Amino acid sequence: MEQISDYLLRYKNFNFPIGFTTADIIDSLQSFEIRDSDVFLVSYPKSGTIWTQQIIISIFELDGGLDEYPNNMEKMPWLEYVENHESYPFRPSPRLFTSHLTPALLPPGLKDKKAKIIYVMRNPKDNIASYYHFSQISSDLETPKSFENLLENSLKGNVGASSWFDHVREWHSKKDQYNILYLSYEDMIVDLKREVTKICTFLGKNLSEADIEKVVEKSTFKNMKEDPKANYQFVPETTIKGDFMRKGQIGDWKNYFTVAQSERVDRVLQEKLGDLSLKFIWE
Ligand code: PPS
Repeated sequence: MEQISDYLLRYKNFNFPIGFTTADIIDSLQSFEIRDSDVFLVSYPKSGTIWTQQIIISIFELDGGLDEYPNNMEKMPWLEYVENHESYPFRPSPRLFTSHLTPALLPPGLKDKKAKIIYVMRNPKDNIASYYHFSQISSDLETPKSFENLLENSLKGNVGASSWFDHVREWHSKKDQYNILYLSYEDMIVDLKREVTKICTFLGKNLSEADIEKVVEKSTFKNMKEDPKANYQFVPETTIKGDFMRKGQIGDWKNYFTVAQSERVDRVLQEKLGDLSLKFIWE
């Protein structure tokens, strides 16, 4: 792995925060055995990952129970991170994983299209605003000198998980190779019940109306913030000095971007992803 800054390592065209993984682990994923019942949640950081984790875990729980687990991170760990990595081949099915990786770095066995992938995307301006906040409270990320500086680094892909634009392009252009459901943070904000129902259908879980309502309730911003298994306050204060559950809104980017910065993102978006016809909700 090549160290590219005080906080980032680069390996196989992808940026990792220091201390989270190793080249051996990333290499080992190429022969990681996938089970048909595996479920992967994939996202670019700050796109609604822990929210979607809570929805998926709640669906499995209501569908038939899950073995006791300390928190969502342990129940649905990041496949690429070193913590607990050794246990993954021995975990009981169904295994639930989270990942910020691009298709090329994930196990090729996912292309059998049996295991399921749920990809969640968030509009890039709110994503950058959320990352800006998070990089100020996380000791694993460089504290930006200014918002402009963070924006510059984001657009160049000089941040954890590299470029948002490359991530979204990679995952959207590989549609046909995977058994994948695409979600957006904004759609979840607009109609959480509709999106939960969509996830249930994709996972083949036939929950009752009452159970779907329970999943929705467990996954609201307010309830998640108070849920010790889901709010990530279990991450030690030495690592995160603040809230994972910050604002949880669409359009907070307006508090950070100037008009010129916003137009710049619009241009890059058009240039890099214009052909994909993605629809974004900005406010
Ligand atoms: S991470 O670090 O990659 O796992 O972060 P991630 O979970 O992808 O993104 C964190 C943002 O998601 C918001 N969040 C929610 N929004 C609405 N409703 C619910 N239930 C919810 N749970 C998490 C969280 O507040 C972060 O967004 P911002 O804009 O910073 O508030």
